[in-house]
Amino acid sequence: MPQPKYHFFVCTNQRPPGHPKGSCGQLGGGEVFMKMFEQLDQKNLWGTLKVTQTGCMGPCMAGTMMVCYPEGAWYQGVKPSDVEEIIESHVKGGKPVERLAFDPAMLG
Ligand code: FES
Repeated sequence: MPQPKYHFFVCTNQRPPGHPKGSCGQLGGGEVFMKMFEQLDQKNLWGTLKVTQTGCMGPCMAGTMMVCYPEGAWYQGVKPSDVEEIIESHVKGGKPVERLAFDPAMLG
């Protein structure tokens, strides 16, 4: 099986309500994952894009967090409504969406 050009990992970690760190699951991570997968299917990006659910990546309150390889481009605050722009700009155009960029160096 050929390697896809881009592999997005979407945090869908779910913490119980009231947890002080919050979680991407509470912020819509599951919906973001479903929208990514829906776009992959609708735009026939099989072979170009792979999307995988993942656990906590650290900056939970800035979720939904995603990271894309091979660049290691991190995204923060992703909403389902952002997904189409990410697909068009990053996956089809090779240009990550800067307004949603997260610098992992901030994690220390
Ligand atoms: S729960 Fe998603 S980054 Fe921590």
